Order: sequence, then structure tokens, then C-alpha cells
Amino acid sequence: MNSVQATKRPLRKAVLPVAGFGTRVLPATKSIPKEMLPVFDRPAIQYVVDEALAAGIEHIVFVTGRNKGAIEDYFDHAYELELTLAQKNKNALVDELKSILRPAGSMSFVRQQAALGLGHAVWCARDIIGDEPFAVMLPDMLMMAQPSCLAQMVEAYNKVGGNIIAVEPTDTPELYGVIAPVSRDGRLIKMKGMVEKPKREDAPSNLFISGRYILQPEIFDLLASQGPGAGNEIQLTDSMVRLMEAQSFHALEYDGVTYDCGDKIGYLRANAAYALASADYGEKAAATLQKLLDEKN
Ligand code: G1P
Repeated sequence: MNSVQATKRPLRKAVLPVAGFGTRVLPATKSIPKEMLPVFDRPAIQYVVDEALAAGIEHIVFVTGRNKGAIEDYFDHAYELELTLAQKNKNALVDELKSILRPAGSMSFVRQQAALGLGHAVWCARDIIGDEPFAVMLPDMLMMAQPSCLAQMVEAYNKVGGNIIAVEPTDTPELYGVIAPVSRDGRLIKMKGMVEKPKREDAPSNLFISGRYILQPEIFDLLASQGPGAGNEIQLTDSMVRLMEAQSFHALEYDGVTYDCGDKIGYLRANAAYALASADYGEKAAATLQKLLDEKN
């Protein structure tokens, strides 16, 4: 293993690609960024930012696009709203709104001007990431886990370094990136390859890349020259396959559940799951959902 393979430089930054149109949940996303759709009681993006912070991330880079301004506004002051609530003595709400804000300068927004694929979106963050390892977190995918999915990955990273991707079993590998495992040590898996959106019969395993990555900055040079792959898009998976030739790569079958909010039923599941998991509303949510089902039967 060379020095690059063994690298365990601390992880401080995360890239959140938020430029996608959300076509699978139209028309809900016609005029609202899909990342701002509520999952139970907060926008989906809030869960992903919370997961990043819980893993020690200090700086978040949003790769954004046109019509995504609501995301920037969400992480800024809403002075008129705060003032109006304060005048009505709704101080708990004011505090809750202010708790969304991060320290000045710890969030960056960079535009992906054209939807050329996930690999291209990540590449758009190269100047802000610079020469250090970084996380990529796909905000469609909400991971319910304790400790958080990225925190589990950081723990693995502190042991083995290099590049790490989160995986979990699926019945529909053709929808995702899929890994070819070689051996495993507990939840940590050695791989010999990855393939983006394989045909079901060609999938090298049932373990799909679930949307959390820890990557070394050398990926950016590979992304710069990456041609289009599956779906005629510049795929992050294809550049990771090339990076595997030079650097250590592990998959982590993390302990938790993934909710794919990118489609309507996944989004419904996420809403129900986060409502049921809520300390304040869980019991009421369970009774309400049960009543709905009983009424239907
Ligand atoms: C992307 C990745 C894929 C991964 C998936 C998880 O695909 O390319 O490897 O499995 O996210 O959601 P997309 O959903 O953008 O088609």
C-alpha cells in the first residue's frame, strides 16, 4: 500500500449534490427543490446536514442549480419571520429557526450549470474541497442510524483510511451502483469492482451504493477526464472504479435503514418512518397510521 492508499487525513468537508430536478416526484418538485420537501416535520436536506454534523463535518458544499435558491435561504436568517415571532413571544420557535444556521463561512454554494451526471456534480466542488479527503452525501437518501451512517463510515475510515462507500442489500440492483465484493471483515468489505446500473442478471452482488462516500481528492483528476457512462451521464462510480487501481477502497455495510426519497413510495416510507421515530409524535403517528389502515381494510 503506498502513502496515498494509507492516507487517513481528517475529514472536514462534505459535498451535497442538490442540482437534480426531482423528476421522479413531479409535480411536487415543479417549483420547490426536492431537497426542501418535508419529511415528517423538516425539509429532507436538514436530516442530511444533521448527519454530516454528527460525523464531525465542518464545511458543507452544496452543488446547486437553477431554481434551488430556497435551500440557501433555508440556511440563512429569516429576519422578518424571526422578528414577527419574537413580537408574539414565540421564542421557542425563534430559537428553533436560529438553530438551523451554521457558523458564517461554513457553507458554500457552487452551481452545476447543466445536468451532466453525479460525477460532474461532484467535480464542480473541486476548488472548494482542494487537496483533502471529503464526503459525498446524496440528499435523496435518508439514513436512519445510530450513530449516523457517515459517523460509522468515519470510524471505519479512521481504521483503514483511503476511500469508503456505504452499501446495503437491495432487491433492485438495476436502479443503483452495485459492488463486486471479495471478502468481508464484520461490516467492512473488500471489493474488486463496482458497476453503475447493471442489468439485473449481470449485477455482481445485491449490495448497492447507498449514497454516502468518503473519497480522496485524487478523484477530481479522474472526474475531469471521465466520459459519459450509464444513462449517458458522467458517473461518479466510473471514476471510483479507476481510482480503485491506485488507492485502497472499502465498502461498509452500515448498521441502519436507508429511505430513498427519490421516488413516491420511498418518500412515503420515509415520512412514516420519521414520524414513527419521533420522540414527541411517534405514538400518535402509529395510532393514526394504524387507524388509516384499519379503515381501508
Ligand atoms: C446515484 C449513484 C448510484 C447510487 C445511487 C444511490 O445514482 O450513481 O451509484 O447507487 O445514486 O441513490 P442516481 O440515483 O443518481 O441515478
